Amino acid sequence: MNENLQFLQAFIKNPMKVGAIAPSSPELAAEMLQGIFPDDHNIVLELGVGTGAITKFLRDAIPSRDSYLGIEIDGDMVKTLNIKFPDMNIIQGNAAECYSIHQELGLGKVRYLVCCLPFVSLPKEVSDSVLAEITKFMDEGCELRIFQYAHGYFLPPAIKLREFLKNRYGKSRRSPLVLKNVPPAFTLTWSTI
Ligand SMILES: C[S@@+](CC[C@H](N)C(=O)[O-])C[C@H]1O[C@@H](n2cnc3c(N)ncnc32)[C@H](O)[C@@H]1O
Repeated sequence: MNENLQFLQAFIKNPMKVGAIAPSSPELAAEMLQGIFPDDHNIVLELGVGTGAITKFLRDAIPSRDSYLGIEIDGDMVKTLNIKFPDMNIIQGNAAECYSIHQELGLGKVRYLVCCLPFVSLPKEVSDSVLAEITKFMDEGCELRIFQYAHGYFLPPAIKLREFLKNRYGKSRRSPLVLKNVPPAFTLTWSTI
């Protein structure tokens, strides 16, 4: 099935969980992957893989299967992802358990955390749990990258998330606005390395 159609179907089925009407554009994917050079000992963890709009570019950036772990909650998406990317570690799971999922798999340290979750629309208990998991990786030294859509950037939930992350990890690095995305978005990076 066409990537955009599958994404739209998932959005219609569960808008709050998917949080966007279209997959990220190649331009947003490029911004999300700036400066990310994983290897087996410094892996990249992608949360909320979706239809693989960012993953397909990550595939070129990883030197080996074990340099990457992707976690996606939607079982239909994961089935398609595993067909599209048989050479990548993509599993069905809840990002709220990502630290233990990573530990159980015995992969290298998570050096890059590419988080595509729609924090603004997720239930509070889910986003709180995900943030608690992210903290465990950040405490070990990690770079966290998220994106936020421009139209919601100054809405209270988006500001609250940035404030939370700023209080924990200091000032973020914000990208220029990526206009070629539906909708336009910024990426934000916090580092504890
Ligand atoms: C905004 S989409 C991003 C998809 C893709 N990375 C992109 O950039 O096009 C968010 C994705 O997060 C997934 N998701 C939502 N809650 C999740 C959770 N608790 N654990 C794992 N994935 C989740 C959704 O199913 C959806 O595929």
